[in-house]
Amino acid sequence: MAALNIKIEEDKSLPAAKKFKVGQSYEHVGERVKLSGWIHRLRSNKKVVFVVLRDGTGFIQCVLAGDLAVAQQTVDLTLESSVVLYGTVTKVPEGKSAPGDVELVVDYYEIVGLAPSGEEAFTNKIAEGADPSLLLDQRHLTLRGETISAVMKVRAALLKSIRRVYDEENITEVTPPCMVQTQVEGGSTLFKLDYYGEEAFLTQSSQLYLETCLAALGDVYTIQESFRAEKSHTRRHLSEYTHIEAELCFLSFDELLDHIERLVINSVQYVLEDPVSGPLVKQLNPKFQAPKGPFLRLDYKDAIQWLNDHDVKNEDGEPFKFGDDIAEAAERKMTDTIGVPIFLIRFPVEIKSFYMQRCKDDPRVTESVDVLMPNVGEITGGSMRIKDTEELMEGFKREGIDPKAYYWFVDQRKYGTCPHGGYGIGTERILAWLCDRFTVRDCSLYPRFSGRCKP
Ligand code: 4AD
Repeated sequence: MAALNIKIEEDKSLPAAKKFKVGQSYEHVGERVKLSGWIHRLRSNKKVVFVVLRDGTGFIQCVLAGDLAVAQQTVDLTLESSVVLYGTVTKVPEGKSAPGDVELVVDYYEIVGLAPSGEEAFTNKIAEGADPSLLLDQRHLTLRGETISAVMKVRAALLKSIRRVYDEENITEVTPPCMVQTQVEGGSTLFKLDYYGEEAFLTQSSQLYLETCLAALGDVYTIQESFRAEKSHTRRHLSEYTHIEAELCFLSFDELLDHIERLVINSVQYVLEDPVSGPLVKQLNPKFQAPKGPFLRLDYKDAIQWLNDHDVKNEDGEPFKFGDDIAEAAERKMTDTIGVPIFLIRFPVEIKSFYMQRCKDDPRVTESVDVLMPNVGEITGGSMRIKDTEELMEGFKREGIDPKAYYWFVDQRKYGTCPHGGYGIGTERILAWLCDRFTVRDCSLYPRFSGRCKP
């Protein structure tokens, strides 16, 4: 089609256009509106150009006809160019589907930033089927895609819902430091840093700090980055992840489990009820079933029995025995087969952290829990904490940790100890379950794992 030398100008006799976000515009049928965003899709036939405009709040189909369609400026339009469109919101005819059931009949538009064509065109940068590592190099561009942006929207809704549940349960938000001089979950995954000549680490968990807040603020939570120098590449391990952690005082192990159950059930419910994130979960994970309580509570020793009954072997290729770690593959096999959320409880002392409270009826095991979800495995780890100073010192000794740097954590026991417990949820793990993503990497804005620290 020969492009005409037409200058695109606004017809000043038209009613003034009201500025809206795309998601709001669906409610303004019949009105002249001004919408700004990026060209998500672009298609033309001889007389009409169809644009799908995206602004993060939604998508809207837009139609450019007449002079607008044939002007050189329109012929030169490219995907991902940013534009301001003026036009009238119109209901799409019965039987036709479009986002919001509307389209924008454009009467005038401006280009804000024209994206390149040819070699540098957007589609060449994020070619479908490209090597995942190349796509991760272009994460800043792939984020614009419908799938990743949908996961990020659900992520935002999930964090909002989690905060809502904490608010309903009267739990106070705190922000502990990320630069620390203590470990929580074992020395092998610590990221070390030079802190003005002193050794320091990036935090693995804010748990110890949360414990110190109990006597000051009561029950507390944080949503904060945690860091793990995980050497192995797995689909569920990141080097940096967003850790949702809470610590609750004067409660029993059963009450802690009930609280975690409420948090998971209610926060997921809120995500599903939300008009933005609910449909996105449906789109990403059509078979998703909201979890219902009570969750299955499975003792570690019974899990060992289950694994042996189902001929699942331990890491040495042998039948499981009491004291074995249940590694990722075996845990997945069990969780996927059972097919419902599981509270795996009462792990042996030796395979858990230094701070975990032993069970009164069996001191070989701890008041500990891993929450396991089908298709992902562990999304949460938690426990009751040792409340007695002497017992805590034994824990340090068993794990070969010098307690000196932990004086403030020990003081929590010294100055008015209390029964308490808490847990950490991996945001990317719970999202992988909710959004049915193969790996937690798909649930992080800019994933970090060994070999990947950019963009
Ligand atoms: O089981 P973890 O190591 O427990 C703790 O850090 C406790 N101190 C938390 C607490 O009680 N406050 O980690 C808790 C959760 C795991 O269940 C998992 O969901 C997530 O954090 N997680 C990771 N997520 C992504 N990448 C990693 N490398 C992760 N390591 C743990």
